[in-house]
Order: sequence, then C-alpha cells, then structure tokens
Amino acid sequence: MLLQALAFAAAIAPTFADSDKVYQHVAAFSIDGLHSSDVEKYVAKRPASTIATLLKTAYEYTDCYTSAPSDSFPGVAAFISGADPRTTGIWYDDTWDRSFWDPYSISDKNCSGPPGAEVTYDESKDYDSTKLWSGGINPANLPQSMIGGKCTWTYPHQRIRVNTIYEIVEASGKQTAYTDKHPAYDMVRGPSGKGLSIIGYDQLHVDAFLDWISGTTPVNSEVQNKLTGIPTLFGGNFQAVSVGQKSYGYVAGSLDFTAELLRALDFVDASLGKVVAALKAKGIYDDTLIIVASKHGQAPIDPTKYGKISQHLLAPAVKVPVSFITTDDVGLVFLADARDTDAAVDNLNGQRDTLKIADIISGERLIYEGYGSYPSPKPYHSNANIHPGDPAKDPAVPNIIIKPELGIIYTTSTAKIAEHGGLSDDDRKVACFASASNLQKTVYDHKVYTKEFAPTILKALGLDPMALQGVVAESGKVIDGFRN
Ligand SMILES: *[C@@H]1O[C@H](CO)[C@@H](O)[C@H](O)[C@H]1NC(C)=O
Repeated sequence: MLLQALAFAAAIAPTFADSDKVYQHVAAFSIDGLHSSDVEKYVAKRPASTIATLLKTAYEYTDCYTSAPSDSFPGVAAFISGADPRTTGIWYDDTWDRSFWDPYSISDKNCSGPPGAEVTYDESKDYDSTKLWSGGINPANLPQSMIGGKCTWTYPHQRIRVNTIYEIVEASGKQTAYTDKHPAYDMVRGPSGKGLSIIGYDQLHVDAFLDWISGTTPVNSEVQNKLTGIPTLFGGNFQAVSVGQKSYGYVAGSLDFTAELLRALDFVDASLGKVVAALKAKGIYDDTLIIVASKHGQAPIDPTKYGKISQHLLAPAVKVPVSFITTDDVGLVFLADARDTDAAVDNLNGQRDTLKIADIISGERLIYEGYGSYPSPKPYHSNANIHPGDPAKDPAVPNIIIKPELGIIYTTSTAKIAEHGGLSDDDRKVACFASASNLQKTVYDHKVYTKEFAPTILKALGLDPMALQGVVAESGKVIDGFRN
C-alpha cells in the first residue's frame, strides 16, 4: 500500500516540478486558426509529425483561450504583452476610436474638427499593397491622434498602451525578430517603437525563420538593428491553416479535416519541421523553448452551423445613431452618443431572432465580465482620466458587443465558410504548447490563456515577467509549469 502510494507520487511528481531552466532562445509561433481540438486530431492522424514529436517533450494546455474579441490584432497583442484588449487598447484591426482623426491622406487636415475616426491597421496603410514588398507603412495613411499634446500620425506601436516582450528583450541588449501578414504588425515593437531588430513580411514565413536561425536578414524586412547572430526571441505566424479553414474547413458529421485543410496542416507541420531541423543543425535546439499558441481559432468547426447575415442589417437594428460597427462573427458597436446604450440594447433585443443574436454585452458586464480573463484591479493607462475597458471613459472600447449564434457571420462575402474575431469557443479555444528537450510531457487540462505566455517567455529567458505593464495591471501570471 505504502509502496504503491510512493510509486504513484513518483509518477505524478514531474507534473508539479516547475521548469526553471533559462533558455538562450525562445521561438514563439502562432499557427493561425489551429484549434486545441485540431492538435488532437492531427497527432492521431500523423503520429510521426513535427507537432506530435514536439509534444513528446512539452507542456500542453488543452483548455487554452486567446483574447476576446479573437481578431488577429488583439490576439497578437495578448501574446506579446500579456494583457487583454481593455488594457492594451487593441480591440480589432479595423475599429473606431472616439479620440482619433482620419488619416491626413483622407482629410488633408491634421487633427482638426471633432474627434472620432475609423482606426484600421492593415495593408491599406502601405505605400503599395499590390506589391509583395509594399514599401512599408505610408504615415500619411495612418489615423491621427494627440500624443503628448501633439497631433501625431499614429503607428500601430503607438496605439498599444502597454509594453511588449519584444521591447523588453531588446532593452536587455538582446535581439528579436518577428514576421506576420503585413507591416501593421509594427504593433509588436511596443510603445517605445524599439521592440524589434527585424520585422519581416515574407509570404513564406518559414524562410524568414530559417534566415534568422542562420543569423541573416531575410528579404522584405525592415531592419532596426542588423542581426549579430541568432535572435534571442523570434516569432511570427503561419497562415496556411487559417486559409484552409476559411475555404474548405471540416467534414460535416465527422468534423474531420477536409483533404485541403489536411494539406495545409501538413504544410505548416513541415515548415515547423524545417525550423526544428535548423535549430538542431545550429546546435541550439536544447537551448531553445518553442512555443506554439494560435492568435485565433476559426468558427464554426461544424460546417452545418455556418450562416451569414448582412452586416448592413446591424446599424438599422440599433435604431440610434451609430459611429461605426466592426463586423465578422461578432459586432462591435460604437454609438454616436453613449447615453443611447440602453435604447440600442433594447432595440437589438427586439431583433434577436432575425439577427441570430446569442448575447448582447454592454455596461457593467462589458467592463467587468466579458473582456478580461481576470478582474482588473489596477487599470493601466498613462492618462489617469481614462478608465480602461469602460466605454464611457475609454475611447477605444465599443459600447455594445453583439455575439451571434455559433457559425453566424455578419458579412455579404460569399467566399468564406468560416471566420474569426468573435467570442465563441471555436474562435478562442486554441492550440497551446511549450516544447523543449528538457521538458517532461505534461498535459494541463484546466483553463489558461495565451496571454500567460508573454510573462512565461520573459521568465524562460531569465528576464523579469513583472516588467510587463499589462501583467502588473491585470495581476497576470506565468503559465502553469513555469512558475516558481
Ligand atoms: C500636417 O502634418 C504634416 C506632418 O507633420 C505636415 O507635413 C503637413 O504640412 C501638415 N499639414 C497641415 C495642413 O497642417
């Protein structure tokens, strides 16, 4: 009996033995769209894959959530800053801000007239988005805001309100590199603008990763500091799975991958395999922590749940003046006058069936419940008059969030059979694991958040996780397995 108990204790002991290793490198990837359930299905199908192999020496988190809303922009912001939209101020890549003005290229004016403008950070900001290398962001296309009392053409890194892991690693004298869809991921640099040595937009992101591992600078990069070796922290995304989900998705009934989606998964897995092989060839695999966490999932997984409703039906249903509505499989409603909120909610309630609305979130619920993973005791903003998360006092927060039924997309596009950005589990419950040769396979099946990887990455590099302003503001923590 005693012996059995001892044997049992020995067997489970590694689960509680936190990893304290300091790594020389962290490679942090988002496989955009990859659900937690996809990992399970893929490993069953491809037991010899790179993902399956990485999981053999990994801490895997099977109930892990990205930000809400689950758009790429807040998803990345969470992963790099450790904080939710109310703290980062990053709610979506195309949204509204009551304190911004239109770009100079549109208005021909600098911050004049009443504030309130669409804030879009995508390829439309670039000099020439039709080219593979767009030339980067043309500042005249940027939305404008007052920063330090001065009208400023506002880059994405000036909109995120809290510092990022890339900034902290650079400030420690080490180098970082990042790659993503387009130059608006300049956000990763953080408020100082100094958070990256290199940012690249290679269409095949794996080429950028492989160049960095050999210490060279890929084409299509903006270089702040020339690489002197392999970056200490490098990251970025793989998009093929997300594209495969939007076009082909899953088989009705079995919810198995379609052949096309499986091909996309194989492509990403092979790309990860090249990264692992390069790390091994350089002799740094044992000194590298590889993190995979998706910035978003995709909804619906079950194709029979898919349905679309024109986004143009939302504003008329609100029936009070609206400044802007962001729509995907979610609706973020910015009212012209916050005092209309209750009336707008009543009006929307009257249209629940027509608009297939599952939930309408506003007021206290929006501030305290939905948009934080934890209660936020010390809201952070450099301006004390702004109360983060409160639409009455924070110009970036929508007045109302509409959550449609699972699978409903507010769009007129016929191209997509799935979308992300919303609040459903299909959108938010994503692939999450940390793999390194020293880790003993452990599965954590309780709820965690992708944002917990930000302080974890700093800790794994021997830096202070509490250097992240967003983690302090939200009383955040290092993810399980890496805690002291
Ligand atoms: C607006 O600001 C830009 C950049 O500072 C400047 O080049 C331009 O002359 C200004 N235009 C007006 C009309 O003030």
